[in-house]
Amino acid sequence: MNSTSNQIHFSKEELDAETNRLFASLSHLGWTKEICQTYASLTLEINLLKKEKNAIILAHNYQLPEIIFGVSDFVGDSYQLSKQAAQTSAETIIFSGVRFMAETAKMLSPKKKVLMPSPDAGCSLAESISAQDVINLRKQHPDAAVVTYINTYAEVKAESDVICTSNNALKIIESLPNEKIIFLPDKYMAQNLAKLTKKQIIGWEGLCVVHEEFSPQKLEAYRRFYPEAKILVHTECSPAVVAIADLAGGTGEMQKYVSNSSANQFMIVTECGLSDKLKVEFPKKKFIPSCGLCPHMKRNDLRNILKALKNPSSDQFVEISADVARRAQKALDKMLEFA
Ligand code: 13P
Ligand code: SF4
Repeated sequence: MNSTSNQIHFSKEELDAETNRLFASLSHLGWTKEICQTYASLTLEINLLKKEKNAIILAHNYQLPEIIFGVSDFVGDSYQLSKQAAQTSAETIIFSGVRFMAETAKMLSPKKKVLMPSPDAGCSLAESISAQDVINLRKQHPDAAVVTYINTYAEVKAESDVICTSNNALKIIESLPNEKIIFLPDKYMAQNLAKLTKKQIIGWEGLCVVHEEFSPQKLEAYRRFYPEAKILVHTECSPAVVAIADLAGGTGEMQKYVSNSSANQFMIVTECGLSDKLKVEFPKKKFIPSCGLCPHMKRNDLRNILKALKNPSSDQFVEISADVARRAQKALDKMLEFA
């Protein structure tokens, strides 16, 4: 390796070794050595800079395979990533996910530098609701507790009582003394939760652009065609889709199900990044194509990760006003009590 004008050059041996390292994982997705070779100098440079700058890369389960298997330090669901962000000793967190996740990391680790490779990676759920909407709902239902899904922006979290993820939403609802719960902003998740609790759930009109597309008719047809397959769906899917599934949960629960199951065929009804990850981690199991692409999650790539590490632009830094962060952090801290 040598360095000229800000550009690092790696030796042929270094590049070959890196190509082989990537190929060991990514060949399970049908990637050739030639494809892996095109990524090798980028992954080498990113991994080198991470050490130099005492940075870690947190990647959501939906990220591209070259990010997950090439450069990430920790991969997980929203809850697991929040925990990692709160616990890390690294000085800088590069968050390969979407804005609400990077904001959460910043609020849980306020002294750390948090950077987003793609600053415009949003989320249709987060964009469906404002802080003023929460204030109005509270006025309409003064006796209700506000339980807010993590897929919201900091200002909305700041107006909430507790934040939850798909894996602890029910536990949190049941733990509260209130009989009435305002659950925001995912309409389908609120309907799915209402079936599992005796409490009154007041929902909102938010929907995920990926999960609203899955239809029960399509899943029924798959079920007939692949009777052996276990159908795992995200709880952001409609109640009609959830009714057909063997498991409805978050991405972490889906991963755990595949890992513990003796079944050999699975339909992973969520964003495609998770089934790609599972194909690599469980090469002997069969995954029937059944996913959709999130345009926000897929904005991150190795090039914008490298930029965030090497020479970040001002909009890649995640900053939250002190007052919003303080109020949102209270609601987030309560979430972390529920594994
Ligand atoms: P998980 O917390 O299940 O990983 O979900 C995040 C998300 O954005 C789902 O679409
Ligand atoms: Fe938001 Fe849906 Fe994308 Fe998840 S998959 S980040 S909920 S738009």
